[in-house]
Amino acid sequence: MSIIKVNTSIEEYRYRARSSDLNELSGRTNQHEVTLFVNKEIVKRMALCKVEVVVDIGCGDGTFLNLASEFDVSSIGILPTEEEVRRVQDRFSESQANIEIKRGLAHKTGLPGGFADKIVCNGVLLLLKEEEIVLALEEIVRISKNGALVYIGELPFVDEMVGRNYGNSIVKWLFWVLRNEGIRSFGNRAMQSAKGVFSKEPFIIKAKDQYFCPIDRFISKAERLNLNLVANFPHMTITPGGKLMNSESRQNYIFTVSR
Ligand SMILES: C[S@@+](CC[C@H](N)C(=O)[O-])C[C@H]1O[C@@H](n2cnc3c(N)ncnc32)[C@H](O)[C@@H]1O
Repeated sequence: MSIIKVNTSIEEYRYRARSSDLNELSGRTNQHEVTLFVNKEIVKRMALCKVEVVVDIGCGDGTFLNLASEFDVSSIGILPTEEEVRRVQDRFSESQANIEIKRGLAHKTGLPGGFADKIVCNGVLLLLKEEEIVLALEEIVRISKNGALVYIGELPFVDEMVGRNYGNSIVKWLFWVLRNEGIRSFGNRAMQSAKGVFSKEPFIIKAKDQYFCPIDRFISKAERLNLNLVANFPHMTITPGGKLMNSESRQNYIFTVSR
């Protein structure tokens, strides 16, 4: 049995790194197609060019870095735990020597100042504590070259946790999934929890708290820190049937850094 209760997102991802499925590091259980789709969309928006330095903060299973490597850029993925760093390093062969995975945090990457041409931070800010948000944005600005392009994605603008009062109960959670996400998702989640009981696959339970910020407020917060808005648009995802869907709760933002 490997049901694990954790208190922080960093602990959660440390345990996710134990899964046999590398996609668990992207936080999207059994949704490989979503991870690929989302990261391909980011690549399209970032207009990557040869010899640029690209940083992916909270790079999950490394899908963006893998796609970016086709553009002959030098890329660095930042992950918060040694366990994740090792798993993702193993993904890349020596032929992809221009990809480096380093341990760091969104608000403390360990990278030098004025270093990156492009920075991606997708699905990460929502995992931070409120007081870490400004620090993380300041860190993004610090490691950026002047004029760098910054992609901040999947940031909720409303509280996605409203109504999720299932606490630590797996049964209540499964009922919530059935009511709100449908039978296919219920089947997936039931299978996932059964694996947690009968195999070594980690099944992680974490209190549901998440950072969210209304769109205008987030843009003002970022602009006060020299992140100037280029575009913002609803986050798009893909259903298992291949249908494209705009998120009703998450927004993506592209900024340029000008000091
Ligand atoms: C939902 S996943 C998103 C992964 C990837 N960016 C994607 O969109 O496919 C969240 C990522 O944020 C990382 N993470 C969690 N807390 C973090 C922190 N404090 N600083 C940096 N990364 C963090 C996790 O390790 C994980 O890689």
